[in-house]
Amino acid sequence: MILVTGGAGYIGAHAVLALLQNGHEVLVLDNLCNSSSASLERVTRLAGRRPQFVMGDVRSRPLLDKLFAAYPIDAVMHFAGLKAVGESVREPLRYFETNVSGSVTLCQAMAHAEVFTLVFSSSATVYGESETMPISESAALGLPTNPYGHSKLMAEHVMRSVAHSDPRWAIGLLRYFNPIGAHPSGLLGEAPKNIPNNLLPYLLQVALKQLPALRIYGDDYPTPDGTGIRDYLHVVDLAEGHLMALNRLRKQPGISTWNLGTGRGYSVLEVLKAFEKVVGKTMPVCVEPRRSGDIAQCWSDPSKAREELGWESKRDLNCMLEDAWRWQCLNPNGYGADAMAV
Ligand code: NAD
Ligand code: UD1
Repeated sequence: MILVTGGAGYIGAHAVLALLQNGHEVLVLDNLCNSSSASLERVTRLAGRRPQFVMGDVRSRPLLDKLFAAYPIDAVMHFAGLKAVGESVREPLRYFETNVSGSVTLCQAMAHAEVFTLVFSSSATVYGESETMPISESAALGLPTNPYGHSKLMAEHVMRSVAHSDPRWAIGLLRYFNPIGAHPSGLLGEAPKNIPNNLLPYLLQVALKQLPALRIYGDDYPTPDGTGIRDYLHVVDLAEGHLMALNRLRKQPGISTWNLGTGRGYSVLEVLKAFEKVVGKTMPVCVEPRRSGDIAQCWSDPSKAREELGWESKRDLNCMLEDAWRWQCLNPNGYGADAMAV
């Protein structure tokens, strides 16, 4: 059985579905601070099978001990965490407590229960502003520009030390680039509780007139069209990467890092143009100054994941945008009251 912390969230729910569809038994632990258990109802409908669900906090050692004692858990996927960059600047302690202390408590409980296989949601944010593109796993780790980024880097350091301390550990640090998109059914997707920070969720709400206009944060970057370039990847591809990492870890102890990205970057204007094509109308936009902490460009070298995991992203930008738009049209208020009937 796989314990999936944060399994009711955006990426976690897609991973839970992929696990169920591949024959795994799944236990989700989530305190629902940024999600709804409705996502797991949708997962159940898609998989034809229900994951076990415990509402609770990954920081609670007594709860974790109880779960490891009660269920035959043999590996963990650890998604539970806080991810809003601006909020992390205002509430750094909450971020370090959840993202770092939560990871420490989880590793302690795993060691106690002698469960040593762990897949962790890290982020390309650990590379900071890289000098060379594409970014491979051997690139120097950067200096994160906000507490969220620091918390991910610190959690990586914790796990690296833990893996070095005992050869039974097999830990995969998955460094995601920019996950977007939704399940093609339109049943699972990203449901931000507040005004979105990230480009695509913001754009989706502009398209439905829930927000007035897209603010383009800077058109004076040293990129071909002046706007920031990122490596967007489909959340379903990302979820599949977790399964492949889990399989590899069964045979590869120690600590491993894998970039999960497509290897191709798109600028804000390129995403906007592609999105307008999908929606069939132009979006209201305005250009604003650069957002503090943003970098000009960031895209992956995904060859290590291809060689070691056999993983490669399969879905292109158009597919990501079509799936995200379908999700948004069917669920204009996320998993809330106006969402499509399940
Ligand atoms: P999300 O907020 O949708 O999912 C996180 C889940 O963790 C939520 O369901 C939330 O309720 C749960 N959670 C938070 N604190 C918890 C706690 N203390 N105990 C139990 N559950 C808790 O976010 P997501 O986009 O699915 O991200 C999942 C992971 O991937 C996070 O760790 C995030 O930092 C990381 N990540 C995300 C992105 C991205 O762009 N979405 C990029 C890189 C890394
Ligand atoms: C952001 C976070 C990063 C986190 C990642 C995934 C910041 C500074 N960085 O990265 O730590 O790991 O999300 O959750 O918040 N853009 C606009 N208008 C918008 C929103 C974004 O022009 O309303 C631009 C940005 O300037 C950037 C691109 O779109 O060039 C992508 O932005 P976003 O989706 O927020 O992702 P990142 O900045 O890569």
